[in-house]
Amino acid sequence: MLEGKTIVLGITGGIAAYKAATLCSRLVSHGAQVRVIMTEGATKFISPLTLQTLSRHPVATDTFDEHDASVVQHIDLADAADLVVVAPATANIIAKMAHGLADDMLSTTLLATTAPVLIAPAMNVHMLQHPAVQGNLEVLGSRGISFVESGTGQLACGYVGKGRLAEPDEIVEVIIGMLAGRKPLAGRKVLVTAGGTIERLDPVRYITNDSSGKMGFALAEAARDLGADVTLVCARTDGPPPAGVTVVKTPSAEEMLAAVMERLPDMDAVFKAAAVADYRPAEKRENKMKKGPETMTLELVRNPDILQEIGNWKQANGGARRTPFVVGFAAETTDVERHALDKLARKRCDLLVANDVSQEGAGFGSDTNIVNVYGAEGLVLSLARQPKRLIAEQLWQLISRRAAWAPERSEGAGPL
Ligand code: CTP
Repeated sequence: MLEGKTIVLGITGGIAAYKAATLCSRLVSHGAQVRVIMTEGATKFISPLTLQTLSRHPVATDTFDEHDASVVQHIDLADAADLVVVAPATANIIAKMAHGLADDMLSTTLLATTAPVLIAPAMNVHMLQHPAVQGNLEVLGSRGISFVESGTGQLACGYVGKGRLAEPDEIVEVIIGMLAGRKPLAGRKVLVTAGGTIERLDPVRYITNDSSGKMGFALAEAARDLGADVTLVCARTDGPPPAGVTVVKTPSAEEMLAAVMERLPDMDAVFKAAAVADYRPAEKRENKMKKGPETMTLELVRNPDILQEIGNWKQANGGARRTPFVVGFAAETTDVERHALDKLARKRCDLLVANDVSQEGAGFGSDTNIVNVYGAEGLVLSLARQPKRLIAEQLWQLISRRAAWAPERSEGAGPL
C-alpha cells in the first residue's frame, strides 16, 4: 500500500513513544521507506537503535549532526517526505508547530517540509484540555494539518480520560488513506438531513426553529470529499447547499419522513442532523387565516419521530439485510450525557452526537461546534471547539471505522 512512499516519522518525548516502534514496523511492512527523527525527550523513552533497526535507516536526533556533507539533513528529510507523521505528539511539539519554532531536528524539518503533516497527540487528560493546547490544535487545524484523535482510557500518569496515543493500526489506516488516495467513503451511499423543519399554519405562516443547516451541510460536504455519493434531505436552511450532492427539499417533518424512508434501504449510512419540529399545527388552513378574537389557541399534534422510525425499521429488517449505519444528533442544554445515552438507546441509533448548545461556539447558526459522541459503550469521541467542517470530517472517519462495511484493519505483519 505504501510502496515507493517516504514517510518521516517524528517521535517526541512521551511515554507513548514506545508505540512508535510498532507504527514504524507497520509502515515498513506496508512498503514505506521510514525515516525517523526523534527529539531528545523521545530518546529517554525509547532507544534510537530500536527505530534504526526497524526502519533500516539511521535515526536523526541532532540538527547539527551532519554526517553526509553532500546534503543538509533537515532539508533533505523535509524534501524527501511524502508525508510527515508525528506520533506521539506532545503538548510541546504542538506548541512549537503552532508558533513556528525551529529549535531541534524535528521542529526544523516540520517547518521546512511542504509534505502533508499528520499528528497523533498523546498527553495527560488535563494537558490536552488546556486552552493553550486546544488553541494550538485549532491553529494547526486551520493550516490544514491532519490529526488522529487521541483515545480515551487508562493513562500512564494514572488518570483515566482522553489523551492516549491512537493505536498504531489506526494511524497507519489514516496514512494509507492520505497517501494511497483511498477515500474512506468511496463507493458508499450516505444520506444527511439538515435544517429546521417548517410546520405550516396557512400559506403565509409557519412554525420553525433556529437551525441554520450548517452542520448538516458540513457533513454532506465532508462525505462528498471523502468519496461518498451523498443525498442531502433538507428543510429550511440559511444558505445554499454544497455542490456535488443530490438535494431533496422537504420543508416539513412529514415530507422529510417520506423522503428518508423511501431512500433508507439503499443507504450505507444516515446522519440525522436536521432539527425536526416535535409538533405541527393540527390544522393547516388552505387560505390565509383572518384575525378574530383577542386571544387564540393553537392546537398542535405530535410529528413523527424520523430517527425513531429509522431505528424501528432497522430493528425489523436487521436480520434479513444489511441496514445503514445510523447517527442521530442531540442539541441539549442540560444533562447532556444522560439525555444523549437515553436518546441513543430509545431511538436505536449506532452513534449519537451530542452538543451542548448553551456553550459558546456550539450549536445553531455557529460556524464552529463542540461535540461528544456516544455509542452503546458510552463516550467514544470528544471534539473540542473547531469548525463544523473539521468536526464533520472526523465524524465520518469514525463512522467509516465502526460501520459493518468498514475495511478490515491493517494486519500487523511486522516484527512487533
Ligand atoms: N428527530 C427526528 N424526528 C423528530 C424529532 C427529532 O428525527 N420528530 C431526530 C433529530 O434529527 C435528531 C434526534 O432525533 O437526530 C434528536 O433530536 P431531539 O429533538 O434532540 O430529540 P427529541 O427526542 O425530540 O428530544 P427531546 O425529548 O429532548 O425533545
